[in-house]
Amino acid sequence: MSQTQFLPAAAAGTLTIGGDLTVNRLGYGAMRITGPGIWGPPADKSSALATLRRTVELGVNLIDTADSYGPGTSEELIAEALYPYPADVVIATKGGWERPGPGQWTHNASPKHLAEALEGSLKRLRVERIDIHQLHAPDNAVSFEASVEALAMLREQGKIRHVGLSNVTREHIERANRIVPIVSVQNRYSFADRESDFIVDYCEANGIAFLPWAPIGQGSEAHEAIKAVAGELNATPLQVALAWLLKRSPVIVPIPGTSSIPHLEENVAAASLKLPQAAYDKLIAVSHPPISLRG
Ligand SMILES: NC(=O)c1ccc[n+]([C@@H]2O[C@H](COP(=O)([O-])OP(=O)(O)OC[C@H]3O[C@@H](n4cnc5c(N)ncnc54)[C@H](OP(=O)(O)O)[C@@H]3O)[C@@H](O)[C@H]2O)c1
Repeated sequence: MSQTQFLPAAAAGTLTIGGDLTVNRLGYGAMRITGPGIWGPPADKSSALATLRRTVELGVNLIDTADSYGPGTSEELIAEALYPYPADVVIATKGGWERPGPGQWTHNASPKHLAEALEGSLKRLRVERIDIHQLHAPDNAVSFEASVEALAMLREQGKIRHVGLSNVTREHIERANRIVPIVSVQNRYSFADRESDFIVDYCEANGIAFLPWAPIGQGSEAHEAIKAVAGELNATPLQVALAWLLKRSPVIVPIPGTSSIPHLEENVAAASLKLPQAAYDKLIAVSHPPISLRG
């Protein structure tokens, strides 16, 4: 007798990325499982591994990471927790940023560095091909076309299945798409931070997945309006923030980050929270001051 397993993340519905990678529309960001400042190993490695395993048990099958988280640590933990990967698990990693120290990030999207970074990701993730490899950010010191051409060449070599971009404008997406099909864009975006509104619309019109980073505003204090809706729906404010994203566009796959299993479970439970149209309209009408994560 076959049993259907209840997978909470599946309640968000699915999105097919790049024509062949179908994922549940509530993903996981694996940046938070490293040490403080996204540097080095986590204080409690067994808890980080348990959190990663719990993501998959909950039906999450899109995991976002980057070579620079740790650096290397996030990818190594993903492999340690989940390899051999279940067939439906999609791992999206990134290259193009380097880490001189805790909390510090420097651009490097030179073709040479991108090729070296990819080799490192393949090794740490223990795969022969990366499902989605994202340019972490355009590098002002390198021609954008040269960075994308390097990823296109690595895709030609079979080391990358699909190419994505992060921290980009519409112009970047269009320029990159002339070189290689772009299947996903990852920009900062949340209920409280709509700077990429226009990019979300562009992605939806062009069948590109949009993976908002900081989708719950990095856990920051919820807006009064969202608290009010949460009270009405018997949900938590962060669940409402995630449900708002799910309703905002069918190409959005939020990737909330956490190092805590209770937080993970709370976030994934948002997949089944259906935001009534009136609540969505009330929230979309709220205007926010510009965001700065630098304080
Ligand atoms: N492309 C880029 O440039 C870029 C930049 C930043 C992030 N990212 C990606 O996007 C993912 C998400 O972004 P993010 O991690 O910066 O921000 P986020 O998902 O908006 O928020 C994560 C923060 O919120 C806390 N949190 C999560 N769930 C919570 C809950 N239910 N209750 C209370 N606090 C909660 C986490 O702390 P706890 O660990 O205590 O739960 C963490 O401090 C990252 O993991 C990474 O994969 C990409």
